[in-house]
Amino acid sequence: MATSLEISKNCQLILALDIEDRTQAIELVKQSGGELEWVKIGLQMFTHYGPDYVREIADLGKRIFLDLKLHDIPNTVAKAIASVSNLPIDMLTIHTCGGREMMEWAVKAQQDNKPDLQLLGVTVLTSMDDDALAGIGVNRSTAEQVIALTALANEAGMSGLVCSPHEAASVKAAHGDQFQLVTPGIRPTATNAGDQKRIMTPQLAADQGADYIVVGRPIYQASNPAAVVAAIRSDLG
Ligand code: C5P
Repeated sequence: MATSLEISKNCQLILALDIEDRTQAIELVKQSGGELEWVKIGLQMFTHYGPDYVREIADLGKRIFLDLKLHDIPNTVAKAIASVSNLPIDMLTIHTCGGREMMEWAVKAQQDNKPDLQLLGVTVLTSMDDDALAGIGVNRSTAEQVIALTALANEAGMSGLVCSPHEAASVKAAHGDQFQLVTPGIRPTATNAGDQKRIMTPQLAADQGADYIVVGRPIYQASNPAAVVAAIRSDLG
């Protein structure tokens, strides 16, 4: 069994580039320094600036996590994956609640079009609680729903998940290394939690089994983003 130090060494940092202005976003990526390898681009920037923005960040030497959270009928999701396969991306999100067939089609589209692309399944959004689930007819707790959707993702052949660092250990315990785990909700010690409620430090998240941690505001709101990147990488071992 791997020690926590070995796990920490393998855990990588992803910058969540949730910045509205394109020029500022590019500048921030440059300021974050060469130690930063991964950048997450979300729906807001992708719908505003499109594929060229992805290429522009990739041209800065960064690997791209495109966080589109696809959720549609299987055929449409598969075709969307085929479309984005032309882009220089390394990770892409889909919603596990699209169901087993949607995930199977997604996995097939990924394997046919971009075998190196890591598909990640989003389970229950952290903006949802038990009441919100009940409102859409799901009468499980959020914890139970995460476990059920994770099992479904496993059956569909998925190999990556986005989850809370608080869920990482139980996913690893249930599924071993079947899933690459990407965890947001990370705060280096002595930084502001903001609206994140269930936070963890980089090292603790890595020790829980996170393969990648996503960090946004603690880096892009810092006066010296490169210093925060270096501190997080040092914390990860
Ligand atoms: O600024 P902060 O570090 O909180 O940013 C976290 C990033 O991770 C944001 O892009 C946010 O949308 C994303 N995220 C999250 N919780 C999830 C899924 C994604 O915070 N469950």
